[in-house]
Amino acid sequence: MSGGPADTAPPAATPAPPPGRAPAPAALDAAERMDRDELRALQLDRLRSTLRHAYENVEHYRRAFEEAGVTPEDCRSLADLARFPFTTKADLRDTYPYGMFAVPMSRVRRLHASSGTTGRPTVVGYTEGDLEVWADVVARSIRAAGGRPGHKVHIAYGYGLFTGGLGAHYGAERAGCTVIPASGGMTARQVRLILDFRPEIIMVTPSYMLALLDEFERQGVDPRDSSLEVGIFGAEPWTEGMRREIEERAGLHAVDIYGLSEVMGPGVAQECVETKDGLHIWEDHFYPEVVDPITGEVLPDGEEGELVFTSLTKQALPVVRYRTRDLTRLLPGTARPAFRRMEKVTGRCDDMIILRGVNVFPTQIEEILLRVPGVAPHFQIRLTRRGRMDHMTVRVEARPGTGPGQRAAAAAAIARDVKDGVGITVDVDVVDPETLERSVGKIRRVVDAREG
Ligand code: DLL
Repeated sequence: MSGGPADTAPPAATPAPPPGRAPAPAALDAAERMDRDELRALQLDRLRSTLRHAYENVEHYRRAFEEAGVTPEDCRSLADLARFPFTTKADLRDTYPYGMFAVPMSRVRRLHASSGTTGRPTVVGYTEGDLEVWADVVARSIRAAGGRPGHKVHIAYGYGLFTGGLGAHYGAERAGCTVIPASGGMTARQVRLILDFRPEIIMVTPSYMLALLDEFERQGVDPRDSSLEVGIFGAEPWTEGMRREIEERAGLHAVDIYGLSEVMGPGVAQECVETKDGLHIWEDHFYPEVVDPITGEVLPDGEEGELVFTSLTKQALPVVRYRTRDLTRLLPGTARPAFRRMEKVTGRCDDMIILRGVNVFPTQIEEILLRVPGVAPHFQIRLTRRGRMDHMTVRVEARPGTGPGQRAAAAAAIARDVKDGVGITVDVDVVDPETLERSVGKIRRVVDAREG
């Protein structure tokens, strides 16, 4: 199990200087200093005990393994994992609320639930040991992002059943930081708190960060003058274009944090501030595979597909080959050489829009419109039906002060770039500033107004 930051560890590379300031080098924990062979040996050991724990204590896994004709003893190498059955969100729903728990309820210290982008909630549980590991991996993530003991961390992820707020909270405390548990909402007050309490770090969804930046400007304050040095953004897909937008407007390092409640919560993978080249998966606790989303076949590293996780240390809710629905690819480690990276998530299989035979993700639209002058990064995709044909309208806000001529030019440029880059014809409505729905947590990009 990983410990907290070790004093004796060699320092990691110094992050590239932000607009202004650079965090001091980090001390790495023992697992971060492992080489790949040591890590793989640890993974196999932990994988075998996870499979045994799931098989012996969860009715669902016993049955699923039997149906697939495997027992935990059949896992002799990491590659053998491919012989084991997948777990899906439907399995968690069918056993709602506690059917997948592998320990007696008396050992469960906390519950979280995911409303899910689709369907009924799923319930997840944590033992004391699970909460320790979770705090450790979030602390490690915060350090990778440039957070150091003594930094103040403003947490604007929602507190409650959502894992974002409390997950970030205990990790930041474990990292030796001072936590400002702001939770989501009350945007004007968030800005006031940031100005008064002077946090170095903010943890929030990228879409809500944009709302905070707008609020800074509304209050007549340049966000670049704030105390913030690092933003740790996740819980929803965001693009390199959005990173540039936020870094330039806020004058901070913007790094990506990934996770999901079924696997743990935030802190499954984290981008390192010195490289900003995708997210290192904390593979000592979460074993990743990428599979073909249709056939389920395991794909080699480097190929894009659906991300699948097997937990390696979880006690209350071990997950075996959990299908995340998130699309990405696995890449070799860089700033943390033993840990593979996952590329920024393109989107969820569920978010993919198929328009007249062409697959489109909201992130592709985001990347395009962030390059067009005169429009803000607030946008929404509206799907309608015209006769028998599906139709997409991109609604995007003008930046304040953008006149009618520039708005028309922007609309034409977006329509042209979507046609050239994605291969579909869309209508573009450039609407007034502050007219599209804002979210204080995860943003909903697609409004489906098609019937049936
Ligand atoms: O969103 C956990 C989290 C909280 C992660 C705060 C990061 C920060 P769920 O509510 O269970 O958990 O939603 C998980 O959100 O399967 C992805 O589709 C999406 N997601 C999470 N992080 C990212 C990210 C939390 N960095 C689902 N990039 C996941 C893209 C993300 N999508």
